Amino acid sequence: MTTHAVTGATGQLGRLVVSELLERGTSPADVVALVRTPSKAADLAALGVQVREADYDRPETLAPALAGVDALLLVSGSDIGQRERQHRAVVDAAVAAGVQRVVYTSVLRADSTELPVAPEHVVTEELLRASGLPTTVLRNGWYTENYASTLDQARATGSVTSATGGAPIAAAARADYAAAAAAALLDASTAGRTYELGGTPFTYDDLAAALSEVLGREVRHQVVGADELAGGLRAAGLDEGLVGFLVAVDTATARGALDADPAPLAQLAGRPSTPLVDVLRAAAQG
Ligand SMILES: NC(=O)c1ccc[n+]([C@@H]2O[C@H](COP(=O)([O-])OP(=O)(O)OC[C@H]3O[C@@H](n4cnc5c(N)ncnc54)[C@H](OP(=O)(O)O)[C@@H]3O)[C@@H](O)[C@H]2O)c1
Repeated sequence: MTTHAVTGATGQLGRLVVSELLERGTSPADVVALVRTPSKAADLAALGVQVREADYDRPETLAPALAGVDALLLVSGSDIGQRERQHRAVVDAAVAAGVQRVVYTSVLRADSTELPVAPEHVVTEELLRASGLPTTVLRNGWYTENYASTLDQARATGSVTSATGGAPIAAAARADYAAAAAAALLDASTAGRTYELGGTPFTYDDLAAALSEVLGREVRHQVVGADELAGGLRAAGLDEGLVGFLVAVDTATARGALDADPAPLAQLAGRPSTPLVDVLRAAAQG
């Protein structure tokens, strides 16, 4: 039997991938949940999944955690600025442990995008290439759940503000990317391929319409420039780092950085991406 391991398995995406592996018929005993904090994975252990400690910042945990693993999903870390070192530790340990194959969650058009998160993904893709490990690169677009953060503003003011203009945003739900990741992990023929993944595109006008539907009140898209957006975010008390990040994302989005063809994700996941309104409704209820 093939042993499949998932890093960040107590994270939002990682948990969904473990569920997908089980739903797709993988025996729990053949699934390894690699986690920073094993006590957070008691529910996974109760399902019969192997839970092993694997902390990117403690390389000594990684080699034992990867023993006997055939196919590894490396879910990119959440500690921006630390990820090159962390991912290098995982790749080195995977080589040393004799892992056969890796699937990595990168970002849409990592090698050409202006999205500010791209550089660490580019380095990781290069590390994987240099390692000789057969690798499937899943270049994920934005999570639709990111836009659930507009619910509060929309509820309070009847508007959502962006500097994206009318640019298309091919976001998909975490569950959609998780389905694709599980499929890639289970299918060795995906090795060597790079997938650019996104959902059915929507604009901020579509977002406003979906928010109107979910909230039962009129919501409009307020189009602003980058400077005005930055001013509003500062006035709301966000720190300069986050203001810079969010403005850079909107600016890149306006130039098409989050647009994508939804077909590759639907094909890999085996179903279309989750509609925007469903993600917003779940967030509003949740
Ligand atoms: N496409 C997008 O819109 C988007 C948005 C945000 C993030 N991302 C990327 O996608 C990844 C997965 O997203 P997510 O929503 O699942 O994020 P998340 O819920 O924050 O999960 C991140 C996971 O990484 C684990 N982790 C963090 N530092 C670690 C370390 N030193 N050693 C081992 N594990 C560590 C966390 O462990 P604990 O459970 O112990 O905290 C958690 O399980 C993120 O990490 C980020 O790279 C993409």
